[in-house]
Amino acid sequence: MEYILEVKNLTKEFPGVKALDNVSINVKPGEILALCGENGAGKSTLIKVLSGIYPHGNYNGEVYYKGKLVKNNNVKDAEALGISTIFQELELIKDLSVRENLFLGDLPTRLGFVKWDEVMAKSVESVREIGLDVDLEKNVRELSVAQQQMIEIAKALTKNAEVLILDEPTSALTTNEIGRLFELINQLKAQGIACIYISHKLDEVFELADRVTVIRDGKHIETKDIKDTNRNELISMMVGRKLTNLFPEQHLEKKEVALEVKNYSVLDANGKKLVDDVSFNVHRGEVVGFFGVVGAGRTELMSALFGAHKWGKSGKVLLDGKELKINNTQDAIKNGVAYVSEDRKAHGLVLGMSVGHNITLSSLRKMGKVLLNNTKEITESQEYMEKMAVKAPSLETIASSLSGGNQQKVVLAKWMLTNPKILILDEPTRGIDVAVKYEIYNIINRFAEQGIVVILVSSELEEILGVSTRTIVMREGKIVGEFDKGTATQEFVAKYATGNE
Ligand SMILES: Nc1ncnc2c1ncn2[C@@H]1O[C@H](COP(=O)(O)OP(=O)(O)OP(=O)(O)O)[C@@H](O)[C@H]1O
Ligand SMILES: [Mg+2]
Repeated sequence: MEYILEVKNLTKEFPGVKALDNVSINVKPGEILALCGENGAGKSTLIKVLSGIYPHGNYNGEVYYKGKLVKNNNVKDAEALGISTIFQELELIKDLSVRENLFLGDLPTRLGFVKWDEVMAKSVESVREIGLDVDLEKNVRELSVAQQQMIEIAKALTKNAEVLILDEPTSALTTNEIGRLFELINQLKAQGIACIYISHKLDEVFELADRVTVIRDGKHIETKDIKDTNRNELISMMVGRKLTNLFPEQHLEKKEVALEVKNYSVLDANGKKLVDDVSFNVHRGEVVGFFGVVGAGRTELMSALFGAHKWGKSGKVLLDGKELKINNTQDAIKNGVAYVSEDRKAHGLVLGMSVGHNITLSSLRKMGKVLLNNTKEITESQEYMEKMAVKAPSLETIASSLSGGNQQKVVLAKWMLTNPKILILDEPTRGIDVAVKYEIYNIINRFAEQGIVVILVSSELEEILGVSTRTIVMREGKIVGEFDKGTATQEFVAKYATGNE
């Protein structure tokens, strides 16, 4: 048997969209196949066919597993064959414990009783295997996005997969966690497990994959051995044209101080300082980047500035010399603070609402509170749909039917439309393809040129150093370093962030 999984002439249509158009791919046992393409190219749709979300009969074309035609009715059928998928959108149930989530839908039973001893042993084992340090009885809601993602991976491992499909598994993981995940994938590969790996991070593709398949607009463009291609070629295949620079040129001029944050602390439920007495300024004409490892306190700092903290905080925030009193998110929006958060499902998008309404959600006040079919609403959201290249049939499209990256663009558009005075972007390009990243960086620069205070939080050093005019490094709740653009290398900043300087 050469291929464990073969897809032949797959076509899948949605109303108004041909998501897949006659695509064929295959993967061998012990092989890692990367799947690359722009936002909306059809990657997740392909995965959803393989994983049984779209059942047999719901698409045209055939899927073969170990040479036999696959007729899955649901995800369970695919898993029973040996195909396990970690989906792009986290599937965890937030009010169940970690342990319960690990066995969602298939708790081992003996004569109808749940074998809790087995559940215990297996979950401890799988969580240890991925090197995750969490309390298994905690509600998933209390875990970070990164931890939640690791739980998903542990979940797949408890199911003895022979084909493991990962749809952007690292978008929320830190460098260390990614390293651990890659070790794991390579371990599985050595055991003969096949892997289909989707990522917008090309470094990962070149590090992991044996072969790469590129799809664009639902069509198969090319499949190549990884050693026969390179970064630039891959980008060109994905976007359909040459893209020479990853970052747009900046023409920013540092002017007067706009934002002052003084002796700012943020506490958790037990009074422990998550952010510990930090002070910093942002000038007009700057893009200030915040870098740090998970737990450094960046997200806690930013969400507190936006009034979204749960427990105590202290310190002062001044904009143009005037103190801002922000105790909740309403205060923040009123004062012109916009926050694009890292977890779009929790704070960013109402998935059951249309794209148009999602975009205008936060600026209803500005628009005079008229909700439906307001001409102004339509024009402005249309404008941002175009700026951000949101790929959707129309503004009426329900947000949940957009591809992952396109959902993220809607979140961004929504906040940009509020005309903010202070724009805080927390991992804004997560899951976004290279061409649109470039557009987002352009928009960030334009905001800074207009004198808007722009703060960027990102775990991608290349992005932080490429976009920020100044980078502030946080560690364990404190500011530990600050670098002007061009004065520090990635290695140097990384050392600061981990305390190895
Ligand atoms: N349930 C659905 N209903 C309608 N259209 C859909 C649905 N799911 C996906 N689409 C559309 O099909 C196309 C492909 O989407 P898909 O999610 O496969 O993209 P993707 O390659 O995974 O992109 P991303 O990198 O942004 O995750 C998009 O235009 C998307 O809007
Ligand atoms: Mg996707």
